[in-house]
Amino acid sequence: MEELLDKYTTVEETNTNVWFKAGSTSLFPQNSGACVKYKNKQIAVFNFTRTGKWYACQNLCPHKMEMVLSLGLIGDKKGTPVVACPLHKKNFSLENGAGLTDESLHIAVYPVKIKDGNVYIGFSD
Ligand code: FES
Repeated sequence: MEELLDKYTTVEETNTNVWFKAGSTSLFPQNSGACVKYKNKQIAVFNFTRTGKWYACQNLCPHKMEMVLSLGLIGDKKGTPVVACPLHKKNFSLENGAGLTDESLHIAVYPVKIKDGNVYIGFSD
């Protein structure tokens, strides 16, 4: 179980070595999530049209190790963009991956940039 989590480490924009082209922005649902694969990782990508911001995080929910976060509901918790896992509703910050309903859990987040109508996700490997 732990090896699964070990694949996922937060990447800061300043540590990005690779900008992975995930696809055209038109392929991603608005105000919802989609899952893309990068190497051996499943990455959830979210398009918040209300704020015009995009976020990426591991698709793996660390609670029960299920690949489900891209199916989660997204929203705003006191100004922080969050995803709520669809299984047991644990909330995670999409800005820094912190567990907001369970501080012992956290997720990896990745930088996203939009260029020429395409979505790019930043990785360090
Ligand atoms: S599996 Fe995600 S909150 Fe339980």
